[in-house]
Amino acid sequence: MITPRDRLVWFCRPGFEDELGAEVVQWAGASVRLHASGGAGWVLLDVPAPEVARELAASIRPFTFVFARQWFRVLGEGTGSAEPGDVIAVLEETARRVGGAPRARDLVVEAPDSGAGRRLWPRCEALSRHLRPELEARGWLSARHRQAPRLHVALVPEGRFWVGVSDPRNSSPWPGGIARLMVPAGAPSRSARKVEEALHVLLTEHERQKALKPGRRVVDLGAAPGGWSWQFARRGLLVTAVDNARLASEVLETGLVDHVRADGFRFRPDRPVDWMVCDMVKPAERVARLVGLWAAQGRARWLLFNWKLPGGRRFEAVQRCRAIVDREMGRAGKGYTLRLRHLYHDRDEVTGYLAVGERKSTPARRSRRPGRRR
Ligand SMILES: C[S@@+](CC[C@H](N)C(=O)[O-])C[C@H]1O[C@@H](n2cnc3c(N)ncnc32)[C@H](O)[C@@H]1O
Repeated sequence: MITPRDRLVWFCRPGFEDELGAEVVQWAGASVRLHASGGAGWVLLDVPAPEVARELAASIRPFTFVFARQWFRVLGEGTGSAEPGDVIAVLEETARRVGGAPRARDLVVEAPDSGAGRRLWPRCEALSRHLRPELEARGWLSARHRQAPRLHVALVPEGRFWVGVSDPRNSSPWPGGIARLMVPAGAPSRSARKVEEALHVLLTEHERQKALKPGRRVVDLGAAPGGWSWQFARRGLLVTAVDNARLASEVLETGLVDHVRADGFRFRPDRPVDWMVCDMVKPAERVARLVGLWAAQGRARWLLFNWKLPGGRRFEAVQRCRAIVDREMGRAGKGYTLRLRHLYHDRDEVTGYLAVGERKSTPARRSRRPGRRR
């Protein structure tokens, strides 16, 4: 059975539904109905009418949400096993309601990251394999439909599925928003994977090319055993790795990493560097202040950092840290871009990227609220 729905859905790390829900409610306004069950890995927002759902979806920007990995606007919801024919039926029904043929530029078939959701991942792959040629044969799915949305098919445990759309510029091309990236052999720690993900999720291709040129200088605070330093060194950047602990031999063997045994909160480079990166396991507010000071004082142009969040009230902690950076940069009168994301490789922390001297981007606050429209 297929039911049209006016809903938006977000995916997150299971256990972070409250944080994501708090962000969604703050963004959308209190008059919406939010559904989130702990551990499910998704949050769902019921809205009163299709035009409200469209208006909300159109106001989402790439970094509006910290705790969301993926999102889409639901066109229809079905029960059963989600065969290609079921998805096609939803698209035909939607086309009848709104007029015009279904059009998508891209297809993502996904399921949440919960235990039950992961068991659906092989079915997602199979459905994607069978559905894609059927949609292409109808002319509904093509990379040539440049202005068209991304089509999402999401399987959820308990035999339900959603068919939805998102803006490809703001949603993730990876199922569930989980970046599947290769890290070359020889990485000294699991953190190397995280920094790889951060560089792909938080920076655009153009930004990566510009900021990761060989020869750029990096200060890595809290560097040991050296996964982050290794990631920059393997791209040819010159790293000063600050930590009292030992660095792994493969990091030193790159010949591009200089180990300085010092306190990361006191260390200052003798001249400005390109990057400051910081993975010290210290209170998030303290790291936020350090990041804000380095950026405001012009010690680094690009900063990549972790904010380790305390148990409970993690969304509020992120807001406090963001306000600290905003205050430091405001005092210095500098433009900047601040992007924050709870990455796949993050657990009780979020990862941030700050670029100095670029247009300021803060999360889009919606000016009008659903239910208060005239
Ligand atoms: C999570 S580990 C960093 C992992 C590293 N990013 C990697 O990729 O291998 C945190 C590191 O911060 C260091 N650390 C903690 N407090 C520090 C401080 N005040 N100054 C310098 N390093 C510190 C610890 O010694 C530890 O090696």
